[in-house]
Amino acid sequence: MNTRSVDTLAGRWALVTGSTRGIGQQIALGLAEFDCNVIVHGRRSAHAGETLHLLSEYAVETAVVAGDLATRAGVRSVIRGAEKRAPRIDILYNNAGIQNAWQPVWEIERPTWQETLDVNLFAMVELTNAFAPGMLERGYGRIVNTSSGIRDIPELAPYSVSKAAVDKYSTDLAAELEGTNVLVNALDPGWLSTDMGGPNADHDVTTVLPGALVPALLPDFGASGEKLLAQEYEWSD
Ligand SMILES: NC(=O)c1ccc[n+]([C@@H]2O[C@H](COP(=O)([O-])OP(=O)(O)OC[C@H]3O[C@@H](n4cnc5c(N)ncnc54)[C@H](OP(=O)(O)O)[C@@H]3O)[C@@H](O)[C@H]2O)c1
Repeated sequence: MNTRSVDTLAGRWALVTGSTRGIGQQIALGLAEFDCNVIVHGRRSAHAGETLHLLSEYAVETAVVAGDLATRAGVRSVIRGAEKRAPRIDILYNNAGIQNAWQPVWEIERPTWQETLDVNLFAMVELTNAFAPGMLERGYGRIVNTSSGIRDIPELAPYSVSKAAVDKYSTDLAAELEGTNVLVNALDPGWLSTDMGGPNADHDVTTVLPGALVPALLPDFGASGEKLLAQEYEWSD
């Protein structure tokens, strides 16, 4: 992806799902570094304390929304909360995700498939349906869908299938939004040491920056429909 980018997101509002910890927390801080106002999200508002504390170092507005993305009621609560607490959503960072427990593929039953797809894919679709029309009306939007580079791990099939669907959904959406300045891209963060990634991961969680910001910092009518690898980007002096 072309790294040409805007140097401030001042006045913009981003909703970062799953930003109470891990990769989403880094993304929230990275966006604040570029002056973007941030809505922090987790299943419970009480989980947001650490991210809010870290964001208090920046001169940006912040808000919190809560909702379990495994349920439609939870998704609705996130949408309603964001509509109430921010004037608009300019950047929708669909980051929240869950990984199914490691199991022989034949033993993975439908409820596990359902929950994984509910959180990783269907919530993303509902959030996009809620916020993309406003972006279109205003002629500006950046949607980033957190994907993965996972492959050939059948024990995690619900997770990897959900991420393959995220990739496909992202390119379909980009085709629909072509020429509108609502840009949609997928992000592969790399294998990172978070609660999900575990302690043996290849990279520290902080290395998701600056790459994870590239699709949020795109210039008007910049790249869309691409999948970018966060680990390919480094801060420049
Ligand atoms: N870590 C990696 O190596 C890696 C690699 C490739 C892709 N990814 C992707 O990157 C994203 C973030 O991963 P991570 O490693 O940062 O995960 P993490 O450390 O487990 O954090 C997950 C975040 O998502 C939220 N969340 C979890 N379940 C939720 C639910 N049912 N409803 C709403 N929010 C929920 C959590 O919030 P609360 O617990 O506060 O509710 C938390 O903020 C995911 O989409 C993941 O698939 C991660």
